[in-house]
Amino acid sequence: MQSFSAFSVQIFFPLLFMLSILEISMSQEAGFCTAPSILETGSNAQPLYWKVTNPTLSPSHLQDLPGFTRSVYKRDHALITPESQVFSPLPDWTNTLGAYLLTPAMGSHFVMYLAKMQEGSKSGLPPSDAERFVFVVHGTAFLTDASGFTHNLNVDSYAYLPPNSTHHLKSEASTTLVAFERRYSYLENHVTELIVGSTDKQPLLETPGEVFELRKLLPTSLPYDFNIHIMDFQPGEFLNVKEIHYNQHGLLLLEGQGIYRLGDSWYPVQAGDAIWMAPFVPQWYAALGKSRSRYLLYKDVNRNPM
Ligand SMILES: *[C@@H]1O[C@H](CO)[C@@H](O)[C@H](O)[C@H]1NC(C)=O
Repeated sequence: MQSFSAFSVQIFFPLLFMLSILEISMSQEAGFCTAPSILETGSNAQPLYWKVTNPTLSPSHLQDLPGFTRSVYKRDHALITPESQVFSPLPDWTNTLGAYLLTPAMGSHFVMYLAKMQEGSKSGLPPSDAERFVFVVHGTAFLTDASGFTHNLNVDSYAYLPPNSTHHLKSEASTTLVAFERRYSYLENHVTELIVGSTDKQPLLETPGEVFELRKLLPTSLPYDFNIHIMDFQPGEFLNVKEIHYNQHGLLLLEGQGIYRLGDSWYPVQAGDAIWMAPFVPQWYAALGKSRSRYLLYKDVNRNPM
């Protein structure tokens, strides 16, 4: 026994060790260890439980976390974040992918969608009696109106198309629009008109008791049954009013990050997130981070809710 034990220590274990070294160098030659990133993230390369003290915190890591999403869908609100958006060919459009973010299936009376156009894309028309609002978030769209005139819509430009108005949008390169459509609520003796504009040309409006900056992209006159607000918050600014109202909202966060309160839930949000707010959901926003928050907001107006 004594002699075997001595043999183990002096001959056998060193031999075993050399063999395992040989095995590692051979597998390296065979190309199994050529990608250092695999080694670093492999369980063998890091101490046991190292993730406990080195958790994945950056948003880019979280997006890849299996099954993880910040998106929620509840009775009176929804948060649709980019990793949950599903694009498919837009019906009636040519060569365009769309993601319907908010639709009447949620309870809204409008649709809000992203349209990704490219070279050779062309829009279709909305359903009859539906009005359309488009806002360019990337690239350039060319809008040809009912009289045949073509408007260049660059980033931050928008257009309102009255119900039943003939038009089409085209693009020559990668272009993304956010679009809203709803069935127009007709009023006797009133009609809406084609509107083309850009956010930076719209005047700042008074917001009594509030600090955020407000622009409205559509006229506030009676014919228009909705408006689109652009709201800017500097970091640290927040809504004073904790609003609850009969109007419904579709929101796209264009810049920045912050916390959105919807009902009893508080959501960290960032540019690219879309939100559905049903009538009467308690709502509130605070801007955080180091840059301006800007969001675009659909709001139904000018109609008796009865
Ligand atoms: C819009 O078009 C539809 C289908 O052509 C028509 O039935 C409807 O009356 C039109 N609406 C108005 C206000 O002209």
